[in-house]
Amino acid sequence: MIVCICNNVSDRKIEQAVSNGTTSMAQLRECLAVGTCCGKCHSHAKQVLRECLSLQ
Ligand code: FES
Repeated sequence: MIVCICNNVSDRKIEQAVSNGTTSMAQLRECLAVGTCCGKCHSHAKQVLRECLSLQ
């Protein structure tokens, strides 16, 4: 599912970033540009990040 429409970032991409060592929204923003346009995806992206980290 797409999390960030502006930058075409899916939950799968966030999952991959986490398995590559991403642990924070700041790092997600850096590597995938999540939330850098309209910002509406921020809370959903944060939730997906938290879920991925809890599965690690
Ligand atoms: Fe993510 Fe707009 S939907 S910045």
